[in-house]
Amino acid sequence: MSETPTSNEEAPRIREMTIDDFPEVFHIGEQVFTAEYSQSLYRTWDEYEITTLYNSDTELCLVAEAGERILGFALGTTVIKHNSPWKYGYLVWLGVRKNTQKGQVGSRLFKEIRRRMKEQGVRMIIIDTSADNEPAIRFFQKQGFGDIQKHVYMTLNLSRKARKKRVKKP
Ligand SMILES: CC(C)(COP(=O)(O)OP(=O)(O)OC[C@H]1O[C@@H](n2cnc3c(N)ncnc32)[C@H](O)[C@@H]1OP(=O)(O)O)[C@@H](O)C(=O)NCCC(=O)NCCS
Repeated sequence: MSETPTSNEEAPRIREMTIDDFPEVFHIGEQVFTAEYSQSLYRTWDEYEITTLYNSDTELCLVAEAGERILGFALGTTVIKHNSPWKYGYLVWLGVRKNTQKGQVGSRLFKEIRRRMKEQGVRMIIIDTSADNEPAIRFFQKQGFGDIQKHVYMTLNLSRKARKKRVKKP
């Protein structure tokens, strides 16, 4: 199952996530995807993110393991649009333990998920992250990503009564 050469004992092994890995993966996610990571609820880390992606695309749910320890994970899926002949890969979550970051774990996870996506016929990989997540933007640029597009997210809270704004006429 391992796709990464393990000649170097220190090098993490990249393998498919199993149900037994869920608690550790969830814990790492809690460490790196904090409230500051995303203000938007649509990008909130919770256990359903793991189970939903695992149930739909097990082959694209990977972990990096060294010894008995999970160091990081990549959870992805594929998307087919009926108006496009292309198959897209969406790397939804990529997380590496804080004390292991900048040690090539993310690169190894990305390399393997990219290989798997390509094997599944994916022609373009999409990622999204906050505009101020400089480490992640640098990371993805290093992996060859470009064409950064900024989106604006707005919210409308329906639980509050809309307050009428008094605008004085000039
Ligand atoms: C983004 C993340 C997954 C990168 O994983 P990583 O294992 O630390 O990255 P790597 O060690 O493989 O780094 C590869 C390259 O990315 C860039 N990079 C990684 N971390 C960086 C940082 N903090 N600042 C600047 N560049 C960085 C560097 O160019 C690096 O190349 P180098 O080693 O030659 O300097 C990790 O920082 C992380 O978990 N961040 C929090 C969660 C997150 O933002 N996920 C991405 C969106 S889902």
